[in-house]
Amino acid sequence: MAAYHTVFTSGIHTEDHLCSLQPYQIENDVSQETPEVLIDEADIEARVQELAAQISSDYEQGGEVVLIGVLKGSFIFLADLSRKLSIPRVIEFIAVSSYGSGSRSSGAVRLVMDVRGSIVGKHVLIVEDIVDTGHTLKYLIGMLESHGPASVKTCALVRKAERAEVDVDVDYLGFDIPDKWVVGYGLDYAEQHRTLPYIGIISPDD
Ligand code: PRP
Repeated sequence: MAAYHTVFTSGIHTEDHLCSLQPYQIENDVSQETPEVLIDEADIEARVQELAAQISSDYEQGGEVVLIGVLKGSFIFLADLSRKLSIPRVIEFIAVSSYGSGSRSSGAVRLVMDVRGSIVGKHVLIVEDIVDTGHTLKYLIGMLESHGPASVKTCALVRKAERAEVDVDVDYLGFDIPDKWVVGYGLDYAEQHRTLPYIGIISPDD
């Protein structure tokens, strides 16, 4: 029998400046489940180091890079990646909301929080935890390119290639992963498990 667990999620609406708390129901209390390790802490650290070395090399002649972390999932990846870079960098965050049925996005993406500083003439690197359908990254590339940066490139820790619905370039990719629900290292299920040091698999539909 499925155990039902009530979770509250905040909804922020830039159009009408409303904030609300919306309860929703999920099956199974996944906070009690121990995720199966998919990518362990050491492998993540080694890959993040490799990505940082590649990015540092590629941007060496380009001056400062603006790292834009996509909230919330990228916060740990961005923190680790940015500290391993050897090039001048500044940190920005952006937040988007994708609509879906709790665990699946619908493809519609909405900007919830924009970057604070101007990116005109700057080299921008979007930092994502995961590329799933690709809709979020595609939206962000288009939106940021319209603000006149010198360049826009993308970096993601993991990608589910099987789930791709749109073509989107990931210039710096950590790992291709199977189509399983993954948590940890910033990734969540219903806000659970974000601070796990590894990336693990859970089965919320069991
Ligand atoms: C996740 C992830 C990406 C997006 C990718 O965010 O952080 O931003 O989904 O999905 P897509 O490729 O299908 O567009 P989520 O909406 O789960 O929010 P969160 O980062 O706050 O957990």
